[in-house]
Amino acid sequence: MKTTLHTGPLSPLETECLVVPVLDTAENNNNEQSDRHSPEIQSSDKEVLSAAADLIASGEVTGKMLETTLLHKPQGLRAKRLLLIGGGKAKSFSLHQLRKLAGAAVRNLKSKDLKALAFAAPKWSDGNMGDAVKSIVEGALVGNFDPDCYKSDRKEQKIEELIIVVPRGGSRRSLETAMEQGRIIGEAQNFTRDLVNEPGNRMTPTVLADRAKKMCDETGLKCEIYGPDKIKELKMGAFWSVAQGSEEEPRLIVMRYEPSRAPKKRVLGLVGKGITFDSGGISIKPSDGMEKMKYDMAGGAAMIGAMRAIAQLKPNVRVIGIVCATENMPSGKAQKPGDVQIAMSGKSIEIINTDAEGRLVLADGLHYARQLGCTLLIDAATLTGACVVALGMVNAGIFANDENFYQRFSKSLQTSDEKMWRLPMDEEYRDMIKSNIADIVNSGGRWAGAVTAAMFLKEFVSDTPWIHLDIAGVAWIEDNKPWIAKGPSGVAVRSIVEFARDLGASSK
Ligand code: BES
Ligand code: MN
Ligand code: ZN
Repeated sequence: MKTTLHTGPLSPLETECLVVPVLDTAENNNNEQSDRHSPEIQSSDKEVLSAAADLIASGEVTGKMLETTLLHKPQGLRAKRLLLIGGGKAKSFSLHQLRKLAGAAVRNLKSKDLKALAFAAPKWSDGNMGDAVKSIVEGALVGNFDPDCYKSDRKEQKIEELIIVVPRGGSRRSLETAMEQGRIIGEAQNFTRDLVNEPGNRMTPTVLADRAKKMCDETGLKCEIYGPDKIKELKMGAFWSVAQGSEEEPRLIVMRYEPSRAPKKRVLGLVGKGITFDSGGISIKPSDGMEKMKYDMAGGAAMIGAMRAIAQLKPNVRVIGIVCATENMPSGKAQKPGDVQIAMSGKSIEIINTDAEGRLVLADGLHYARQLGCTLLIDAATLTGACVVALGMVNAGIFANDENFYQRFSKSLQTSDEKMWRLPMDEEYRDMIKSNIADIVNSGGRWAGAVTAAMFLKEFVSDTPWIHLDIAGVAWIEDNKPWIAKGPSGVAVRSIVEFARDLGASSK
């Protein structure tokens, strides 16, 4: 999607469709009825206001969030169509709503086979149009993605050209920069979604590693790819225990962003679960819904996408991305319940359930990240069904062993508008992963499954500040939404990238 900035009046703009947000400025006092609306078109262009005057007067346009009204041949405008899109209450309108509006506009118009649109950015109250422009580009790119890539009759419905119209004034340069940042972040999220969307036969650990390598070559990142020999040489007994049952070779993917000017003492480690298919292994999953377990590499794909954006945004901080990629399969070589494995850290693990494989590969990934010098760790994983039971498909689970780190990461969640809810890690839960024969078990049983999985990972980060994101419920979207297609969500990419930018912006 080609994106350009445009300043100046809307009426002379030639485009297939001009999109203008409408906000509801009605103050909702208690004694007022909630169905009273005061829709206000977010433009001062007289021609636009008069073209939409009858619509507004009719009461059909309320400004409700995501309400769309399409007008053909709007009088006085050069645009072929005018799309009014509701952004909800003016008071609570934020960059988050704006991002969704851009996505919804793209999805609405591309379904009508349009290829180009102009989006009128509403004037931003604090004068920072840059943030608005960045959100619009992010939203539009995310909205432009569809997962139906293997349909032989696929209609290439995509918006090819986006013009963002901004009010006069302000620095052009800073808006161009904001647009570029939005493009990088939106494209990185879609890159991740592309990886996650691929089925297990086409996204083996080898293919995932090849894709990561290609991305690194294109963006100037250092990349090392390791196979079974190196994994065994590093004594990654936990990672290998999952990989040993599969005909497909595992891959350890290491991506490095190391700007020479960045402080040496701080290294952010991004560790992703890259199970390209999770059958459960010998503790095999029920066949119902097993096809979905191709997205069990979404955490790893998020880290590859995040590294892509970081390579292009160039924040002043060192970042190492690590993805442990393997299938989890049953076979004569597969590990069995009761087996004891020695992790790279030296800890012994009694395997209770071979389907609790994500924490095994992450245990060695996290330990390796520390060994490579990471001083801050974030992992992302479709780790537990229990997290989906706890938080549904709305929030990811977030765990942290360090308050400062958690608070700082929370700010990035605010910026990215990715929903995550903190879950506890009290010491009492540690008892649930005790083993009779080894240091720990790999499954804490039925209760607090998301927490005991996190407690297991905690064993391998020692005292390094660490955040764990359990994205099992949110990495795959079950139904189309106006602003995003069903399928892989690309969750965690934006938050992690925003966090890396924040780190790079200060030495604290
Ligand atoms: N990949 C699954 C978790 C999962 C479940 C992801 C649903 C996405 C949607 C993970 O490897 C797994 O199987 N976890 C088990 C752990 C249990 C055996 C302790 C689970 O959650 O049932
Ligand atoms: Mn599993
Ligand atoms: Zn899994």
